[in-house]
Amino acid sequence: ETHAAKIESNGIVTREGFTVTAKHIVVATNSPVNNKYLLHLRQYAYRTYVIGAKVKKGLLPRALWWDTGDHSVNKSIPPYHYVRTQHMDENYDLLICGGEDHPTGLAEQEGLPEKSRYFALENWARERFPIEEVIYRWSGQVMEPMDSLAYIGRNPVDKDNIYVVTGDSGNGMTYGSFAGMLVSDLVNGKKNKWERIFSPSRFNLLKSGGVFFKEVFGNLLAYLKSRPKGDEHNVRELPPGEGWIINQEGKKYGIFRDHVDGYHLVDAECAHMKCIVKWNADEKTWDCPCHGSRYSWKGHVMNGPANRDLHYHNFPASELVPSEEAVPHHD
Ligand code: FES
Repeated sequence: ETHAAKIESNGIVTREGFTVTAKHIVVATNSPVNNKYLLHLRQYAYRTYVIGAKVKKGLLPRALWWDTGDHSVNKSIPPYHYVRTQHMDENYDLLICGGEDHPTGLAEQEGLPEKSRYFALENWARERFPIEEVIYRWSGQVMEPMDSLAYIGRNPVDKDNIYVVTGDSGNGMTYGSFAGMLVSDLVNGKKNKWERIFSPSRFNLLKSGGVFFKEVFGNLLAYLKSRPKGDEHNVRELPPGEGWIINQEGKKYGIFRDHVDGYHLVDAECAHMKCIVKWNADEKTWDCPCHGSRYSWKGHVMNGPANRDLHYHNFPASELVPSEEAVPHHD
């Protein structure tokens, strides 16, 4: 649990200011926290949802299913479903069913907020599998590379002893295994036939241009449309468990109201490249629609590319936007 605040070719500097030296550095942080621009234009952050439902033993074979995605929703990265069974006890198996992905922070722009994704997933599963009660649900974040293959190898435009592993596209166990073999060969100066295929420096606009423009510009437009507009609301109308973006003296803040009437304020500008974060009511996090950084309700960074927290303001509720200055980030 040591946070690498700075990553350099001779090692890292921890958040507390200590230095750890190393000959080789592998940054395997889902979204690389040491690469500020290049890779984040070549991959896109998606949230994915999973449910675990009981199914009577013997009704389904032991299998793994994937569908090919709904191209009417998104031609470049169609949202797909993935399903498998897992032994639970002598009477039941667990059907693990995932999907209903959306670009991070933009669930509402697709007309289905984060929380509703589980119900959509359950409906989809019920139409196809003899499931009973849903007993688990969770969500995660996946990085979708523009040409569908992970980025594993030397960090582009950097020293030769710094490596990244990213763009897992929901196949982290597989690509993690590839990375273990490939990066250890690179570190040891051995040839590896996968080096070029997975190279994080590869880029072919002709082949991947469609996905690039759809995801970068499509999502950027959706994001710009979703930015806080300026309807006036009193922050005391914020329901418990919810978060809004508010304007105060020309600056944007994220405000979250907890269930014991506490208000928590964080700077709303993402620590990566200053996009305005969005509230995720399902996870109780602040998510950035630009490249997928995520922060806890208290601003603690949980997912890169941002590598530092959002500033947390510990204001008493009485001092906090007592008037019409507050602006919700939804209608
Ligand atoms: Fe890049 Fe927020 S993740 S600006």
